[in-house]
Amino acid sequence: MDIALWVNEEEVKLSVAPDALLIDTLREAVGLTGSKKGCATGDCGACTVLMDGLPVTSCLVLSATAQGKEIVTIEGLAVDGHLHPVQQGFVDFGAVQCGYCTPGMIMMATAVLAEEPHPTEAQIRTGLAGNLCRCTGYSKIIAAVNSAALMIGEGA
Ligand code: FES
Ligand code: FES
Repeated sequence: MDIALWVNEEEVKLSVAPDALLIDTLREAVGLTGSKKGCATGDCGACTVLMDGLPVTSCLVLSATAQGKEIVTIEGLAVDGHLHPVQQGFVDFGAVQCGYCTPGMIMMATAVLAEEPHPTEAQIRTGLAGNLCRCTGYSKIIAAVNSAALMIGEGA
């Protein structure tokens, strides 16, 4: 079936199978491999992207249902070569080890901060509860997101 959607502010038109998953379409058809496919069952959050501004696990979204939607992936966060504050926070705090969880974690954190610009640590932890990281122990991730909230508050 033919679909048209917006990915990182560019219109994309493609033909997809009825059972094609958004994560596969983004990675294989659109060529944006930043979003990761971990579990493919909605459990790890590695595939998180924004759809019409809300976070979704793209391994649970049929590509066909993305018709007409606006998708933002990790590749679309930086603006004019400037990292998004959440990305910068991850860099500053060394919140990345193997990196497999990182794109999904950053997309979810971006959504958390869009919803609550001044989150408590508990709100950050709750917001990221669906995103699993097997490497970092989460402390640096929480610090990175907290730092991003401060950067955004300062107009970054
Ligand atoms: S790959 Fe989608 S939640 Fe794990
Ligand atoms: S950095 Fe390895 S899974 Fe999070």
